[in-house]
Parts: sequence; structure tokens; C-alpha cells
Amino acid sequence: GDSVGFVGYRGMVGSVLMNRMLEENDFEGIKPVFFSTSAAGKPAPTFNGVLEESTLKDAYDIEELAKLPIIVTTQGGDYTTAVRKQLHDAGWKGLWIDAASTLRMKDDSVIVLDPINRDVIDRGLESGVQDFIGGNCTVSCLLMGLGGLWKQGLVEWGTSMTYQAASGGGARHMREVLKQFGDINGSVQTELADPASAILEIDRKVLEKQRSGELDTEQFEVPLAGSLIPWIDKDLGNGQSKEEWKADAESNKILGLEGDDRVILDGLCVRIATMRSHSQALTLKLKEDLTVEEIEKIIDEDNEWSKVVPNEREASMRDLTPVAASGSLTIPVGRIRKLAMGPEYISAFTVGDQLLWGAAEPIRRMLKIATG
Ligand code: HSE
Repeated sequence: GDSVGFVGYRGMVGSVLMNRMLEENDFEGIKPVFFSTSAAGKPAPTFNGVLEESTLKDAYDIEELAKLPIIVTTQGGDYTTAVRKQLHDAGWKGLWIDAASTLRMKDDSVIVLDPINRDVIDRGLESGVQDFIGGNCTVSCLLMGLGGLWKQGLVEWGTSMTYQAASGGGARHMREVLKQFGDINGSVQTELADPASAILEIDRKVLEKQRSGELDTEQFEVPLAGSLIPWIDKDLGNGQSKEEWKADAESNKILGLEGDDRVILDGLCVRIATMRSHSQALTLKLKEDLTVEEIEKIIDEDNEWSKVVPNEREASMRDLTPVAASGSLTIPVGRIRKLAMGPEYISAFTVGDQLLWGAAEPIRRMLKIATG
């Protein structure tokens, strides 16, 4: 089997990737070589005896990296920037499979989401593309959920209003929001224990705590617990956040759509205090007046992970939430109905585990394709 280098296997996305590879027996038939940015020389993981004992190599050792035909990195964008060009300059001709955004929009990279763009991936492999990059989490979850409509050329434009989880920021962000919840709760514990206490007094104390500057906000900069943040990633200076820009740029690249075939996609990206599933409220303008049943069928049948949730109260409350979707590869899609604007305008709501389809799973599957 192929030797495969892994960098960043201990981080959050890396850990999810390792777990999925173990679940699917993906280590069979490959020779993993583990790299570390900080612990070279220490024992590499064996995952309870699944792998043979070995030693971690230095993730900045270009010579060691260059020996490998395939490198998978979940180490993050700074590492990609530091290392990828050096490998190129050293004449390396292997495959670089990367979860970070750094190389996504390069002309000679492919964004991987094989249930949606296996043809683009195969063409890339045939034509000698080296960089196979995981897409932005909201984009990947959106296309996994509703990609069938895009693939069949049925969408003229869409807006996506997002409800993005703390995990999109990273592991420390998840801890921070939980700590904030705890500290806020602690500030009103006496009043909460007394059912007769005045709710407006509780509300006043909560707000006071949120505004006090005492909450830990090192990661998110402002309190997220009991609030939200209507801006994600950099300010592009034109009123749009970088996260919002990615929706159109990446989804059209994933699908290989150019010129008049492009689907216009824009909207606002918002951080909310959920843990690891991103949700999106969509408005789509279709090119045809399809019935809701036809739309549901196209979505449901596109791939085995998208699942239509009937547009009913109980099903939506039970099956169309971050609590329901987290830890699962299923992408629920619901709230599909015709909007008052006209028969071609539909709403939809979709939720996806940001660490699975949003990050680790497309990378895991690309490695499977690459090792054939
Ligand atoms: N940019 C995403 C977020 C992370 O902040 O939620 C995953 O691409």
C-alpha cells in the first residue's frame, strides 16, 4: 500500500479524521507515517494496537515529507503556507490533501466533495493536479444537502443565512462558549433556584454579566453565550465577510460551474452558541416551477446522506436541529416550501456536522480515492 503522511492528526479535525478512518478500517492497505510540529521523536499513535509502533517525524522536515507520495494535513493554514511551497521547490510531485482554506481557490487545486464532484476530482487526478483541498464547512454541508438541485441546473440564485457553531472557530472556541454559559448561569444561581424570583431581575443580572468584561472572550472577542456574532472571518472591505464570499466562490468551483452556468450565492454568516453543527436558512430562486414533492425527491435521491425532513412542526423540531445532526453523517434538509414571492421561490433549512462533512469526511474520502 501507499505510504501516507499525516500532519495535525491530534487536533480537533485531525482527531475526527482518525476516528472515521478507524471506523472504516481505512488504515488497512496504507502505511501511515505520522508527523508532529512539536513532538518529533516521541511515539506515534498506535490507536490501541491497530497500528504498529513508530516514531513521530518532524512536520517541518521537508526531506522526510518529500519521501511520501501522499500527505494529508489537518494542521491548519499557517502550516500549509509554511510547508507547501518548500515541497514544491524541492521538486515533490505527490498529492497534498488538506483541510485548510489556504489553497482552495488556486487555479490548479481541486476542492474535494466527491459525492458532489467526483468528476472534477477524477479530471484533476488525470491532469496531474497535486492539491486536493477540503471546502469551507458551510459550503460542503450546503452542497451535500441540496446539491442535487445545483447538479441538475435548477438553481438561478440562492441566499444562505447561516447559524454557525463554535467549533468552526476551533476547540478553544467551544470551551470558551461553555465557560461563558457557566459563568452567566453562576451569576443568577440563587434567583434561578427560587421560582418566585423576578425574571426581569434575572435578565438584568445576565446582561450585566455579559457586559461586565468578566467573561472569558479571548477567542470570540465578545460574549457569544446568550448572544450571537453577525460576522465570521475577515472583513473584505466591501461590506462582505470572507465567510460570505466563500459561498459563491467555492460552491461554483466545487461544481465546476463557469460563466452563465454559475449559480449566484450570497447571504449573511452568523455565529451562534451551538457546539459542532452549522445550520443554514436558504432562499432559492429556481429556474422552473417544480412542485415541493419534485424538489424533495431530487434532494433525497442525490446522495445517500441528504435526508428530507417533512415540513411539519414536530419533525422539524426533532430532526432538523444541531442536537439531532451532530455526530452523524446524515444531512437533514427541511422547511421546504414555496415562498410568497412566487412559485419559483422556495425556502429550505439544512443542518450538518461541521467536523464530519464540514471538514474530516471529504478529506478521508479523497484519501480513499487517491489510494484506490
Ligand atoms: N470558517 C468556518 C467557521 C470554519 O468559522 O465556521 C470551517 O470552514
